[in-house]
Amino acid sequence: MTEILLVNGPNLNLLGVREPEIYGSVTLEDIEKQVTLAAAKQGFSLKTFQSNSEGKIIDFLQENADAEGLIINPGAYTHYSYAIRDCIAGLRIPAVEVHLSQIYSREEFRQRSVIAPVCIGQISGFGDFSYLLGLQALIDYFTRRN
Ligand code: DQA
Repeated sequence: MTEILLVNGPNLNLLGVREPEIYGSVTLEDIEKQVTLAAAKQGFSLKTFQSNSEGKIIDFLQENADAEGLIINPGAYTHYSYAIRDCIAGLRIPAVEVHLSQIYSREEFRQRSVIAPVCIGQISGFGDFSYLLGLQALIDYFTRRN
């Protein structure tokens, strides 16, 4: 079964509790369940990972370099982690960056992603639905590529 990685960065473990007016009331566990189910229905397996630490995210990505695709919400690392960006660029796994909030309508520091340029695309602003859109974008990419 083709394996897709779903990686969430710092503070996303607190989804449901953290600023629900911005990030919604759905927990990360619920999101992971939803995406796992949607992936399974289409013949893909999902490996999930969350960490508050940049190094642990990079270790996980390097250790799973044989995966076929990546959906990543890097949290605040989106805006300044050249280390995660370099890791994704080096792995050559097609990646989709996802965000719950619409980062381009928020504070100026959020309106730039250093990760998106090494991804096949970015989805931002659809709440927890962004993750399902990210999955579909990745699967569509696989279909067109093969
Ligand atoms: C976020 C947007 C980031 O700016 C923020 O730091 C997050 C969540 C989002 O999903 O909307 O932690 O990635």
